[in-house]
Amino acid sequence: MDNPFKPSFGRTPPELLDRTDVLDEFEYGLSLRSGVLGLLTIITGARGVGKTVMLNEAQDLAREQGWAVISDTSTDGFLARIADAMSAINDELGAAPPARKITAFVAAGFGVTTRLAPERQVEFRSLGGQLLRRLDENKTGLLITLDEIQDANRGELLHLAAVIQHFVRDGLPIGFVCAGLPSAVSDLPNEGVATFLRRADKIDLHSVEIADVESSYIKLFASAGLTLPGNMASKAAIATTGYPFLVQLIGYFLWREAEKTGGMLGDDAVDRAIAAGLQRNIRLVLEPALANTRRRDMDYLRAMAVDDGVSGTGNVAERMGAKLTLAANYRARLIDAGPIEAAGHGEVRFSIPGPRQYLRSTPPRD
Ligand SMILES: Nc1ncnc2c1ncn2[C@@H]1O[C@H](COP(=O)(O)OP(=O)(O)OP(=O)(O)O)[C@@H](O)[C@H]1O
Ligand SMILES: [Mg+2]
Repeated sequence: MDNPFKPSFGRTPPELLDRTDVLDEFEYGLSLRSGVLGLLTIITGARGVGKTVMLNEAQDLAREQGWAVISDTSTDGFLARIADAMSAINDELGAAPPARKITAFVAAGFGVTTRLAPERQVEFRSLGGQLLRRLDENKTGLLITLDEIQDANRGELLHLAAVIQHFVRDGLPIGFVCAGLPSAVSDLPNEGVATFLRRADKIDLHSVEIADVESSYIKLFASAGLTLPGNMASKAAIATTGYPFLVQLIGYFLWREAEKTGGMLGDDAVDRAIAAGLQRNIRLVLEPALANTRRRDMDYLRAMAVDDGVSGTGNVAERMGAKLTLAANYRARLIDAGPIEAAGHGEVRFSIPGPRQYLRSTPPRD
């Protein structure tokens, strides 16, 4: 059996842990098709926590109910690409016999326009309305998903929101599910059409239960006839801290070790797999995340790394020699960017694994 683990971004894992009821509201919305919560959803969370995977799930649920799906990511020009994809679906539906199943279109690849010309903006609404009424007659609808919305051009995003809001008001079957870092939501202005987005159902993703990781490892290994002794599964699961990307990375390297040894895993093989997984996580998640961090924010992270567990915000400010109000700014910025999260009143913790050890062992850059 091939290695089942999927240590790459946006790939659905062999077993989706701890996300059972997350899309309940959305699924219910699909069945009612308009005017309900859940059809407008924003998924947030740190890097590697599983946002894109949940977008994929939402798309699958929609397709299962016969909905048309347009999925895109927030690089400039997404509005035009979505408009193009809508128009393509509309053409397809027009040409097809009525009973024909609606197929999904991925917006990327359609159209080359980077911005939507004013006349096309009007077209977008009228064409979209036409498409949605058609879908409505078929008792289905249209789902649009947009990933990485923290990078979306605000003007484009608000424009898209305005068009969607218009469809929602007309009672048309439209769903919009987007995903991004926490800043995607906190950056939204609290007025105008942005309010429409702010009122979306919010799903904030976090790490999964370590016990679930352990039993999933045991199950997946057993399904290939490999034995993963309980103590080893437990050790590996603890090392993941429940962080989804590490669950895949460590699982992947464990599997490789098992393949090498014909299924007889020793303690040192488990240690090697854990070390390899942690190493990749540093390269693929931690270093890129820290590369864009401002100097004072880095100081904040370093001051946090002194603690073995959660950090008191007062202690952190004192260690970095900053006034409380200033430290609060650094903290807010870091929470938005994703690497840390609030851990109760006046406390913060790292939201991705590894920074503590990494920062302790790497000297500050100039
Ligand atoms: N619930 C889960 N259980 C197990 N593995 C998961 C789960 N969710 C995601 N993963 C795995 O975690 C990794 C990251 O998932 P994904 O790409 O969806 O994260 P993301 O939040 O979109 O990250 P980024 O912000 O960098 O785009 C993938 O390898 C995926 O297979
Ligand atoms: Mg993603």
